[in-house]
Amino acid sequence: MKVVVIGSGLMGNGISLACAQADYNVTNIDTFPSAIEKAKTTTAKLYDKKVAKGKMTREQADAVIARITYADTYAAAADADLVIEAVPEKIEIKKAVFAELAKVCKKEAILVSNTSGLSISEIASVTDRPNQVMGVHFFYPAPVMKLVELIRGLATDDATYNTVKEFAKSIHKETVDAPELPGFIVNRILVPMQNEAAFMVMEGADPKDVDTAMKLGANMPMGPLELTDFVGIDTMLATMTGLYNGFHDSKYRPCPLLETMVKAGHLGRKSGQGFYKYDK
Ligand code: 3HC
Repeated sequence: MKVVVIGSGLMGNGISLACAQADYNVTNIDTFPSAIEKAKTTTAKLYDKKVAKGKMTREQADAVIARITYADTYAAAADADLVIEAVPEKIEIKKAVFAELAKVCKKEAILVSNTSGLSISEIASVTDRPNQVMGVHFFYPAPVMKLVELIRGLATDDATYNTVKEFAKSIHKETVDAPELPGFIVNRILVPMQNEAAFMVMEGADPKDVDTAMKLGANMPMGPLELTDFVGIDTMLATMTGLYNGFHDSKYRPCPLLETMVKAGHLGRKSGQGFYKYDK
């Protein structure tokens, strides 16, 4: 199966690695060459660490990295059997990408979105094959996290669903079926908790106290604010905004502090500053 991943950001890069680690040859497409360069550097550092820790040999690491090729035009998706889109979480961007994919991909190709909560049916509506479109939601970091959520749009057919489920198994992921509702399952529960943690900071709490409390009192591997920095404050805010706009319910209102942080360019680990400071 020829797999193409669209987007070289945190998620697109991680999904490419998850596939390459399971022996798939992957083409990763990003129309911004600088994003591709950043992904290559991140990947090289990640695998240098694994080699240094004795988790894999240099040869094994190089073999994984060599299974990913990069391209900066959608034409490289022409012979894909499965395309996994992981571009920013904005419906206009996703729709533009899917419209482009429908033009260049062969008619049998399955097109899936890694959206963390946008409507699959809406994304599918701009293609010539809504029956072959569905959601496959990975979690960050994608090579490590065991879950993917499978989301059928209104038109997704059984053949598409079954092929995608088999593919998910083949890259060693557990699957759950999630309803086509904003946030699906995990983000609908997790992201409002992160948002609440941001409200606590806005109201004067120390981020370290909030995170320590949740790590030691609720056994989270990372505190909610560390996790927000890890995933990206912009990504988390976009997901929260998606819940708010999708349910039209004030219980999902995004914390204003998150909006201010994004405006200031405080995007978490990737920008060097979020709730905490990081060495770039
Ligand atoms: N990319 C790829 N792999 C990574 C990584 C990254 N950014 N960060 C860590 N890893 C890998 C490491 O290489 C290591 O692999 P190895 O065992 O082969 O050496 C493994 O993860 C463990 O890393 P560490 O030993 O450095 O660190 P920890 O044991 O502290 O684990 C963690 C790190 C797995 C990230 C853990 O802290 C964790 O599970 N955190 C919570 C993650 C989480 O909740 N994710 C969901 C976010 S919500 C989401 O994704 C929704 C979406 O819509 C945005």
